[in-house]
Amino acid sequence: MDRGRGDEINRIKVERVTTAEDFDRWYADRVESPVADELVQRVLALPADLQSTSLLTGQGLDEVVAILGPRPGQVLLDLACGRGGYGLEIVRRTGCRLVGVDFSAVAIEQATRRAAELAIPADFQVGQLTDTGLEDACADAVLIVDAFQFADPKLDALRECLRVLHPGGRLVITTWEPVDPADERLPLRMRQVDLANQLPEAGFADVEVTSKPEWREIEQRFWQESLTVDAGDDLAMQSMQDEARRVLKGFDLRRRVLASATAPPR
Ligand SMILES: C[S@@+](CC[C@H](N)C(=O)[O-])C[C@H]1O[C@@H](n2cnc3c(N)ncnc32)[C@H](O)[C@@H]1O
Repeated sequence: MDRGRGDEINRIKVERVTTAEDFDRWYADRVESPVADELVQRVLALPADLQSTSLLTGQGLDEVVAILGPRPGQVLLDLACGRGGYGLEIVRRTGCRLVGVDFSAVAIEQATRRAAELAIPADFQVGQLTDTGLEDACADAVLIVDAFQFADPKLDALRECLRVLHPGGRLVITTWEPVDPADERLPLRMRQVDLANQLPEAGFADVEVTSKPEWREIEQRFWQESLTVDAGDDLAMQSMQDEARRVLKGFDLRRRVLASATAPPR
């Protein structure tokens, strides 16, 4: 491989945030950044007090809720929940019960505080995508927003979702897939996402994986707009702008997807 091409690959591939400690720092910085939160909320058109740390739009959330369809009293697991924003909004809309799991203890603290501020009952706890620490068949629905690409190995995370779901329960995942899984300009963890094959292999039924070009357009606008902000010494904005440069460089290498599946009868 010539040097120019190697440099190009590294510029797109380097992703700093991957461990729980990395995410702890990332969430701690984010508390100090109302600018980042305002940008996310405005460009993604999210409800006013939904604290997102992802790229799922307000309209995307409507679609997700329609597919998951949690009923009052049913248990929704928001897996890799971050600050819990999407799960808490779904409770508000549907009256379901919320369990949120994330491997960042700082995110879990922030989610717990947020639920108390909004007076929405919820249980947040530290756990892994591949090992939630929850009981078998404890959830009626599982949601993973923009975090499945971090799961390692992917199949273990999907089997964990199946284990915690009641038979008949629904799983919804929003994430990105590679246009070409052999394209080394993308990080390996992104190249390994292949939900149309992985969901059935893990044991799920009724698998649907849909490309979402309209979500992608808003995502692109979001990253572009983030680069117009004066980040100053705002660490969360600086980190967002680093990510924006990387993502925009490789933007056409990945596609945005919405996946859904059902846990079959046991
Ligand atoms: C882009 S954020 C999305 C957070 C939240 N779902 C949202 O949409 O606001 C990705 C989340 O995945 C979590 N995460 C990454 N790897 C994880 C793992 N192996 N187990 C559990 N959580 C993980 C991070 O801590 C982070 O909160």
